[in-house]
Amino acid sequence: MKVVAVYNNKGGIGKTTFSAHIAVYAAGFRIRTLAVGLDRQGDLVRWLAGGDCALQDGTSFRKGEHLSVLYSPMELPDRDFMEDYELVVVDCPPNVEIVDSVTADLWVVPLDGRLAMENLGNIYGALRSADGEIYIVLNRCDMIGKRALEGLKRAAHQIPNATVRPTPIPASAAIAKAAEYFRPVWDVPYGRKTYGAKAVRSLCDDVLRASGFGGRL
Ligand SMILES: Nc1ncnc2c1ncn2[C@@H]1O[C@H](COP(=O)(O)OP(=O)(O)OP(=O)(O)O)[C@@H](O)[C@H]1O
Ligand SMILES: [Mg+2]
Repeated sequence: MKVVAVYNNKGGIGKTTFSAHIAVYAAGFRIRTLAVGLDRQGDLVRWLAGGDCALQDGTSFRKGEHLSVLYSPMELPDRDFMEDYELVVVDCPPNVEIVDSVTADLWVVPLDGRLAMENLGNIYGALRSADGEIYIVLNRCDMIGKRALEGLKRAAHQIPNATVRPTPIPASAAIAKAAEYFRPVWDVPYGRKTYGAKAVRSLCDDVLRASGFGGRL
């Protein structure tokens, strides 16, 4: 069982978007997946429920044969429970402390292109103390130039086990639509062939490969 935790202490940066897509994408390859809404806001759980879901601690449901969803604010379920799955995708709340209380194999850290360096500075300490690999992904990257990306890579190299994904995710109307429709970007109207859909698919591919599922894709 592998745990992929999507984290940043900043809000509105793509944590839920990335978590939902990674979970749905993995389940599409018949990888037994548990999506955990650790963020009290419960956005991931609501997203996967199609927007309609009254949440209480422990709310859970099946979404298709290979994806289960659990609302578990601030605390991961027991290891024994998670061991029933091959992959656990965790949408973390924007609290730095969560990095100490969650054990993840891979931390996916979305950064907003424009203030990426400042943001990385804020979570630097937390990431340095994290267990597992760290995969930094620039989201809505259109505002960041090549030099800034290089600077970010240099800064990230100071964090043990961290890499910056060479390819950032663009701002995309189709990705924004995914949140409106509570569907993956490749399933929203006119979304399938968009650049946004391609970019998110490729991110999901990379995350699953980094988690050891390359042979299943
Ligand atoms: N690359 C993108 N292009 C267009 N819209 C995006 C992109 N990434 C995220 N968004 C939109 O930005 C908004 C915030 O994204 P999301 O909810 O995933 O962030 P979050 O980090 O989970 O926020 P919170 O801290 O509130 O939980 C959503 O409406 C989402 O659709
Ligand atoms: Mg969120």
